[in-house]
Amino acid sequence: MRGFFIVLEGIDGVGKTTQAKILARKLRQQGREVVEVREPGGTQLGEAIRELLAREEELAPWAETCLFLASRAQLVEEVIKPALAQGKIVVGDRFSLSTLAYQGGARGLGVDRLAQLNSWVTGGLEPDLTLVIDLKVEEALARGKGDLREEIRQKLEIVRERYLSLAKERAGKVLVVSGQGSVEEVSGRIWTLVEEALARWPSG
Ligand SMILES: Nc1ncnc2c1ncn2[C@@H]1O[C@H](COP(=O)(O)OP(=O)(O)O)[C@@H](O)[C@H]1O
Ligand SMILES: [Mg+2]
Repeated sequence: MRGFFIVLEGIDGVGKTTQAKILARKLRQQGREVVEVREPGGTQLGEAIRELLAREEELAPWAETCLFLASRAQLVEEVIKPALAQGKIVVGDRFSLSTLAYQGGARGLGVDRLAQLNSWVTGGLEPDLTLVIDLKVEEALARGKGDLREEIRQKLEIVRERYLSLAKERAGKVLVVSGQGSVEEVSGRIWTLVEEALARWPSG
């Protein structure tokens, strides 16, 4: 038995965490077993790394990347693989695509190298479905009450564009969903895509 791995992606403030919770709840209401994970975090090591990354200090790009990758490696080994082996649905709040979009895009480390690293640290595990919630940077920043500095805005523009081009290159496995409108409107869109994907899943 093999579970199903769904990941929500997108720039800060688009509604990933909100939608991951709603999605998990809807899946549970259908009687499915769901495990929710977030990145960085989800394990003791991962949560410690999350705290390290939240410090204000400026990390060297590769130092930052390696911390995210270490968190991911531990999460896969400790939580995601066992859950999938038990046939559960794993709902992830960010995963490998974040590295490609942020460190590959905004930090300029190169998508091919990072994709290879992702593949190593996850043992080749990829989400069955990744949904990129897309929203204009200004709207996402306003929602997230994030840092409104011009420098941050420009960085997020790059990351948003990177997400959209990564989705294009991975059509089918990575889908873009509009983050515009109310929480319910967005969750309705997400639900439609998830139901379609689950209908094609043998154990679904
Ligand atoms: N569709 C929406 N419309 C308005 N506000 C939203 C919507 N979705 C989420 N929010 C709010 O925007 C903020 C950021 O949402 P969150 O889920 O934390 O985003 P992310 O995890 O992508 O950073 C939260 O305060 C949340 O309540
Ligand atoms: Mg979040």
